[in-house]
Amino acid sequence: MIRLIDLDKYVDNKYQRIFILKGIDLEIREGEFVTVMGPSGAGKSTLLNIIGMLDEPSAGEYLFMDQPVNKLKERKRSELHKHHIGFVFQAYHLIDELTVYENIETPLLYRGIKSSERKAMVAEMLDRFQMVAKKDLFPEQLSGGQQQLVGVARAIIGKPRLLLADEPTGNLHSEQGDSIMEIFKKLNKEGMTIIQVTHSERNAQYGDRIVRLVDGALMSDSRTQKAMAS
Ligand SMILES: Nc1ncnc2c1ncn2[C@@H]1O[C@H](COP(=O)(O)OP(=O)(O)O)[C@@H](O)[C@H]1O
Ligand SMILES: [Mg+2]
Repeated sequence: MIRLIDLDKYVDNKYQRIFILKGIDLEIREGEFVTVMGPSGAGKSTLLNIIGMLDEPSAGEYLFMDQPVNKLKERKRSELHKHHIGFVFQAYHLIDELTVYENIETPLLYRGIKSSERKAMVAEMLDRFQMVAKKDLFPEQLSGGQQQLVGVARAIIGKPRLLLADEPTGNLHSEQGDSIMEIFKKLNKEGMTIIQVTHSERNAQYGDRIVRLVDGALMSDSRTQKAMAS
């Protein structure tokens, strides 16, 4: 599904080139649940943003579903992003002025899905996450855990094949974090490919594979205990 080949991300200033990612070679198959770990500043978010087409590499190649992402026209790339990728952020990134219902509905508006179908899809999501009673509340009226549930609902409502999550439980208590991880586990079982960034070894164990980044380079790539047991 994903192939990164000798991928670099750098920024140039007057005196030098600073590498944020350097020589990344990575292949992720459809259906995998991969965790990216590494110290703060290692380049994890940059890597996830490049995979999610929110940022561009400086050099190297990125193939997504066999398509060379960095050679595509902006329009085509944006189509790929919209149709196949869902993103969950640490700080939720919900729209404060919109209700729970409207936040979850937003990606469907961008995709031009008609009103009756949107209603059915949002209703299914609210039901799935047991948030029907909260549908008319605004984000600030919810706990962090509930806000992140809305963030996840919004990310998956369009049924993306790839879910990217950058420290999705970073702001949550451990039980709230566990419930997000349980949701990810279930989505992955249903076939969704997941790539998450986390500092938690416990959360990493929900996936099958751990990729470690240090100073912008891939340091290790290993299977989790769960993957080895199955
Ligand atoms: N646009 C940018 N310009 C300059 N430096 C950047 C830019 N984006 C990220 N960085 C730097 O790259 C490094 C990696 O950032 P990031 O991907 O956010 O790391 P992580 O998510 O692992 O903490 C950090 O040192 C950060 O300051
Ligand atoms: Mg980060």
